[in-house]
Amino acid sequence: MAQTIVFAQSKGGTGKSTMAFQVATALMSTGATVGAIDFDVQASLALFAGIREQTEAEPIEMLEIPRPEDYEEYVKRSPLDYIVVDTGGYDEETQRLAIFLADVVVVPFRDSMADIGGMMGFQENLVMSLREKWNEFEVCCVVNFAHIFAGKSIEEAAIEVDSMEGMRYLGGVNGDKTFCLRDRKIYKTSLDAGKGVTELQNKDEGKTAATEEIERLTFLILEEIKRRNG
Ligand SMILES: Nc1ncnc2c1ncn2[C@@H]1O[C@H](COP(=O)(O)OP(=O)(O)OP(=O)(O)O)[C@@H](O)[C@H]1O
Ligand SMILES: [Mg+2]
Repeated sequence: MAQTIVFAQSKGGTGKSTMAFQVATALMSTGATVGAIDFDVQASLALFAGIREQTEAEPIEMLEIPRPEDYEEYVKRSPLDYIVVDTGGYDEETQRLAIFLADVVVVPFRDSMADIGGMMGFQENLVMSLREKWNEFEVCCVVNFAHIFAGKSIEEAAIEVDSMEGMRYLGGVNGDKTFCLRDRKIYKTSLDAGKGVTELQNKDEGKTAATEEIERLTFLILEEIKRRNG
């Protein structure tokens, strides 16, 4: 049975596909077997996986989208360790199911008033309706695109989403409400190179800040899965 890590957010351009690719490749670096499902008609994740196929790196196995009635069984029967799922911003039956059945749902957002306001819509339309089916359903939110010097605004954004029913800040269990992904060019250029930042380490310079962020993101996601299934 595969664990599913689903990236979701109704607002576009918040970093779902980028994080899906970075986390998938970070998990592969640890030796895990990883497949991916791309629900988005824009197929960004499939595109990144295609670029990767042109390199010597281990390919990301793109999986077919199962029919809604087959989804749960498909995941249960999968021999893979993880399935990383990228969703489009729109609401559709199988995507909703993937979100509902996920081992962890990661929701990237910006630490701006507009984005936090938008998170309320996401919470009302999606999270609350899934909580009617299962009252423990919740999603993990994480700030992406944080300004390199932003400090307090991240914590404030984290506290704000943490206060919404069914929404938690990723890593908040351990009291860390300062974790975020910063706005870094390398998140984009690494996709163009078909590799995740954890695979781009320059041995002479040691780990880059981006590598540390993605390793931490992946660690917090795995902790979250353990916490839920524990
Ligand atoms: N932390 C970051 N720093 C810099 N650029 C980023 C970061 N995260 C994402 N990007 C860039 O921002 C753009 C949007 O990201 P991405 O496509 O991952 O968002 P998305 O939520 O999947 O969007 P969509 O809703 O269209 O599917 C991409 O060009 C990506 O490379
Ligand atoms: Mg996308």
